[in-house]
Amino acid sequence: MCGIIGIVSRDPVAERLVDALKRLEYRGYDSAGVATIEDGRLTRLRAEGKLVNLQNKLKAEPRSGTTGIGHTRWATHGAPTEGNAHPHFSGGVGVVHNGIIENFAEIKRELAAEGVSFETQTDTEVVVQLLAKLRKEGLSHRHAMQAMLERVTGAYALAVIFEDLPATIMGARNGPPLAIGAGEGEMFLGSDAIALSPFTDEVRYLEDGDWVVLTGSDAEIMDGEGQPVDRPIIRATGKAHYVDKGNYRHFMQKEIYEQPEVLSHTLGAFVDMTTGRTKMPKGQDLDFSKIRRIALSACGTGYYAALVGRYYFERYARIPCDLDVASEFRYRESPLGDVDLAIFVSQSGETADTLASLRYAKSQGLKTAVVVNVEGSTMAREADVVLPTLAGPEIGVASTKAFTCQLMALASLAVRAGVDRGVVDADEELELTRVLAEAPRLAREAIHTEERIEALSREMATKRHALFLGRGFSFPLAMEGALKLKEISYIHAEGYAAGELKHGPIALIDDTMPVVVIAPHDRSFEKTISNVQEVAARGGEIVLLTDASGAANGPVEGSRCIVLPKMAEILTPIVYAIPLQLLAYHTAIQMGTDVDQPRNLAKSVTVE
Ligand code: AGP
Repeated sequence: MCGIIGIVSRDPVAERLVDALKRLEYRGYDSAGVATIEDGRLTRLRAEGKLVNLQNKLKAEPRSGTTGIGHTRWATHGAPTEGNAHPHFSGGVGVVHNGIIENFAEIKRELAAEGVSFETQTDTEVVVQLLAKLRKEGLSHRHAMQAMLERVTGAYALAVIFEDLPATIMGARNGPPLAIGAGEGEMFLGSDAIALSPFTDEVRYLEDGDWVVLTGSDAEIMDGEGQPVDRPIIRATGKAHYVDKGNYRHFMQKEIYEQPEVLSHTLGAFVDMTTGRTKMPKGQDLDFSKIRRIALSACGTGYYAALVGRYYFERYARIPCDLDVASEFRYRESPLGDVDLAIFVSQSGETADTLASLRYAKSQGLKTAVVVNVEGSTMAREADVVLPTLAGPEIGVASTKAFTCQLMALASLAVRAGVDRGVVDADEELELTRVLAEAPRLAREAIHTEERIEALSREMATKRHALFLGRGFSFPLAMEGALKLKEISYIHAEGYAAGELKHGPIALIDDTMPVVVIAPHDRSFEKTISNVQEVAARGGEIVLLTDASGAANGPVEGSRCIVLPKMAEILTPIVYAIPLQLLAYHTAIQMGTDVDQPRNLAKSVTVE
């Protein structure tokens, strides 16, 4: 999604605006721009494509203004052209926006009928045209801002500057996050703590309906009724050094390699490593003995983690679970009868569909919990229970370390739930937490398959389609592996339950269709291997992820084996995810795609 930054300072701001936008690149974008007030005049620079294009323009036309706003645009309405890039101007007003103005067409018609001519195809332009009109009608800056906010509907994080109101930025939030921070004689406004991390590690997030007037020394926050409100200061974890690739080629590679470390951080939030007993994260309380049924809901990779979570809760705690993609959950209107807990899984904590589902669950009277990686996020602040993944900021659009940390959190919770419900006794609890504590070492060993995987990726890069198969705990992983490959290499890939092969997908099998089979030597191994034989018999090219005993028991003519360490079943989704991430990563490199910011994608989808 789009990124927003604003700075009111005593010093020139244009370079720092662009630096802050660089920290927002991970959100995905296709154009960018900055606006500053230069000697009482609003000026702007905008460019299609990557930020380097904007930087080159700024080099050619330097700016010295000390108040400014900046934006990276992920196109929703209107092509990703310079003309549609933010900031948008009209009548001495400049605006940048993240979100969607849902009633923009109606407002555009009204304004056009009054003679306003529009320059762009964007929804955002109605905001700046409305403000210009209201100012022209004599409203003060604040009243114009308030009147505009009363008129527009939809999702927005906004930053606004007025040519005739120096050293001031106004902001507003309804949906996509907006944070403010303070420096020495300067104030900042941005999409998240990472954007503000070069300037401050203390931020305040606006709540939905809030708007703010920022000057060089003060931030006046008002609620939707214009009443002054205060918002808590959150110490951000989006430290500058986190947002650095270090000596890795891509953020995605760095984040794959960070998994052993962050898996142990996450485990430590749910297991007392001295006693081996499960625990709830600090300050959080959930008694599973009173939970009759759980509803799980998420998007994308979060959904596949939630699917593994369902297997975990049903296997280890014997709690029945419902599962929906978040964009379907609230429209299905399922009878929530004996559902006592809704668990949402989200790396960003800002995904619009998942957030809307969380709010729907609350409206239905359910207790809500969120497995979330960003502590100050909207979901973290609205859920009843926060279940943190301690993966650190995940910058690569393709989720890797957050996914395996989500699985670690869900596995630990399922054991905890089993203990609460008396289906996991004290010895079994110790054994299961001992096993979970092996995840970091096993993840490190899984990373050592990289050389073998890189060799396979050279072949995968010549294909146009791929199939991923898994059974039991490995079924969700088949779908996650397919998503990883397709979203960064642009090769079409599908994940299937291995048992479903004969019900259609087998028609796809020939020597142009690589089939990646996830088959640890567990209870479903034999059945999966017979599926693999069916693929081999039809000339399919097989990549088999298994362990030593699987490789010894199930060699299939022509299949290439990636051998992983032997491990308990509960760990397989976590550890087997790593070769799948590496396969997608190296295939994408072969394909020459933008690994960290793949086309059309955003790190956090804050619009429905
Ligand atoms: C995963 O690699 C994708 N980037 C995408 O599917 C992502 O998982 C999904 O958009 C959900 O995001 P969230 O976890 O931040 O809610």
